[in-house]
Amino acid sequence: MGSQTVDGAIAIEVRWSNLLAAKVWIVTTRALLRLLWSADRMVRHMIPLRGIRTKLDCYRRADHDLRHLADLLRISISELPPTGNCAGAPDFLLLLARAVLTERPEVIVEFGSGVSTFVLAKCLEMNGTGRLISFDHSPAFAELTRRQLERQRLSADIRVVPLRPSESADHPGFWYDANDLPHAIDLIIVDGPPASLHPETRGSAGPATFAKLRNGGMVLLDDAHRSGERKILSRWRRAYPDIEFSNVDTMKGTVVGRRIGDGFSSEIRSARQRSAPGETIETAAKGALVL
Ligand SMILES: C[S@@+](CC[C@H](N)C(=O)[O-])C[C@H]1O[C@@H](n2cnc3c(N)ncnc32)[C@H](O)[C@@H]1O
Repeated sequence: MGSQTVDGAIAIEVRWSNLLAAKVWIVTTRALLRLLWSADRMVRHMIPLRGIRTKLDCYRRADHDLRHLADLLRISISELPPTGNCAGAPDFLLLLARAVLTERPEVIVEFGSGVSTFVLAKCLEMNGTGRLISFDHSPAFAELTRRQLERQRLSADIRVVPLRPSESADHPGFWYDANDLPHAIDLIIVDGPPASLHPETRGSAGPATFAKLRNGGMVLLDDAHRSGERKILSRWRRAYPDIEFSNVDTMKGTVVGRRIGDGFSSEIRSARQRSAPGETIETAAKGALVL
């Protein structure tokens, strides 16, 4: 380390301190980069963990609802038909059970049979009154439902009918060829046809059945989180101002409608005018069915 300065010792000292500073800079930068890299890995691992946690919460909630449902129906959980896939989710089934046990409907019409048919039939048996007609387009699925009912000695009028192209311009898709409906219905469950046929196919339930819904009667539409069902709901709201529709936050989303007759309460009328299509209105109908 040659030096042109008078005081050579000081020059060498300055160069050594430069080297030291550079070393410190390199070590610090490396440590920072390592920190950033491990933070990035941590975040990447946490994202799937969050997904798993959400799924676990869903399973826990479903398990809790199934136990609650079995208690309500006074059966063991093993006596409930299996839920999953296309079957009604436990919180939807619980909503159905509560509706039937509290409202005590005399006439129930269901579209799309399955575990829901079992729950409805069991509730009618507990009520000691009421009848259930359940439509399905699939003979195999209807047969499976029949067997599930027989195991518990329950009964329902399960009818297999073909699906026909919708006759309503507002509601494209297919609908059940179900002509001989009762004149007055207390509860309508819309859980079919499958949306794989057309995303808005269940909308036809409106023109096909709502004219027969009694004052105070209810309609339940499952899978309401889907975009097809959201469109259906906004069309129903426009077409049926005498039915008050609310969203219930079940796993798949459920719409609950209640025919409130000609005399709207001022509260409902002003809430309806204020709300955008698809918005939830808090009502007594929903309150009665809070999960
Ligand atoms: C949403 S499912 C009805 C579910 C029923 N309400 C329940 O709670 O179990 C609508 C229709 O899809 C058909 N479906 C149900 N599960 C199916 C499956 N695993 N494969 C094919 N079709 C199915 C049946 O015809 C049924 O009526």
